[in-house]
Amino acid sequence: MEEKITVSVIKADVGGLCGHTLAPIELLDAVEYVVENAVDETLIDYYVTNCGDDIDIVMTHNKGTDNDEVHKLAWDALTDATDVAKELKLYGAGQDLLSDSFSGNVKGLGPGCAEMEFVERRSEPLVVFCCDKTDPAAFNLPFYKMFSSPFNTPGLVFDPSMTEGFKYEVMDIIDHKRVLMSTPVETYSLLALIGNLERYAIKRVYRGRDNEIAAVASSEKLNMMAGEYVGKDDPVAIVRAQSGFPAVGEILEAFANPHLVSGWMRGCHWGPMMPVGEEDAMPSRFDGPARIMALGFQLSKGRLVGPNDLFADVAFDKARDKALEMAEMMRSMGPFQPHRLPESMMEYTSVPKVLKTLESRFEEIPENNCKLEKTTDRGDLE
Ligand code: 13P
Ligand code: 13P
Ligand code: MG
Ligand code: MG
Repeated sequence: MEEKITVSVIKADVGGLCGHTLAPIELLDAVEYVVENAVDETLIDYYVTNCGDDIDIVMTHNKGTDNDEVHKLAWDALTDATDVAKELKLYGAGQDLLSDSFSGNVKGLGPGCAEMEFVERRSEPLVVFCCDKTDPAAFNLPFYKMFSSPFNTPGLVFDPSMTEGFKYEVMDIIDHKRVLMSTPVETYSLLALIGNLERYAIKRVYRGRDNEIAAVASSEKLNMMAGEYVGKDDPVAIVRAQSGFPAVGEILEAFANPHLVSGWMRGCHWGPMMPVGEEDAMPSRFDGPARIMALGFQLSKGRLVGPNDLFADVAFDKARDKALEMAEMMRSMGPFQPHRLPESMMEYTSVPKVLKTLESRFEEIPENNCKLEKTTDRGDLE
């Protein structure tokens, strides 16, 4: 049997310089020190970077997905970076490491994780996406464009190995269920679900013809906990390219017209997703707007050749300009919807507290509701 390669991307925010804008080099160095020591033993290769205040660790190995040793390695590296963040008193030091102890898998402990295992093709181009200031449902629209829209991906029409379409694993984050749906046959039903970003997020995409894995996104904190939405985990994704998958340019084209995603300031606002090169992945205006980086690699027996910083291309300047115009338009709404997220999607909210203090002041609306009655106990208003 041919040997399989696993690509694991594990990420966390363990502190920002300053506020939520950037994971500084000191943290990346701390992570890299631990990961470098694991090459040849646990890992084949790695690449460490950051998107805003999130540290992204790209790793290749032969140990399969959900492997204890690989997850522990990432956990240890992020724990060491947390120690540095605490020493430097960075903002939100240790924010995403929710537990003091590791229990075999980073899932549920705070970090986000996207992994896929496959037999490396004769040439294996892949794109790793890293984001900040948004949530995993941010991939719903671009994944749909990449794998199901012939206007984005002409390869769906021209490449015979793609004409049978792609299958999507869609998660219902409220009822904690998942469903597998095929395009083009179920395109409209799929859109009926994934257009609802409050409830549905695409976890994986498979090629229809042979169920070969095509894409995977992290989705860790997209959960309801005790009836409350604890969403928002700045996501990562891995997408395989060319020869039976969308071409690299088709994958990137899904970001050429920026879409609105949830996140931004305090995780409570809609705003544009701006594609940027690694150097510009530093969201500062109103803590944003949301950023996405695209790192292109070629695998060579598991070795990560690259990355090519794909969104650094000047051809994405127009997308950036447009995103900034969209940002301006959304910002003009201030604390009003639709800039502000609906209550169910807000990461922080004062509304229950406000309602509590107003509890005794709310009254039934009288049938003849023309004016404030002078007889009500509102002397302060006269
Ligand atoms: P090349 O002819 O440069 O290999 O490009 C083919 C292709 O698929 C471009 O998207
Ligand atoms: P992060 O999720 O990137 O830490 O941002 C949180 C926030 O409150 C930004 O304003
Ligand atoms: Mg942060
Ligand atoms: Mg972040």
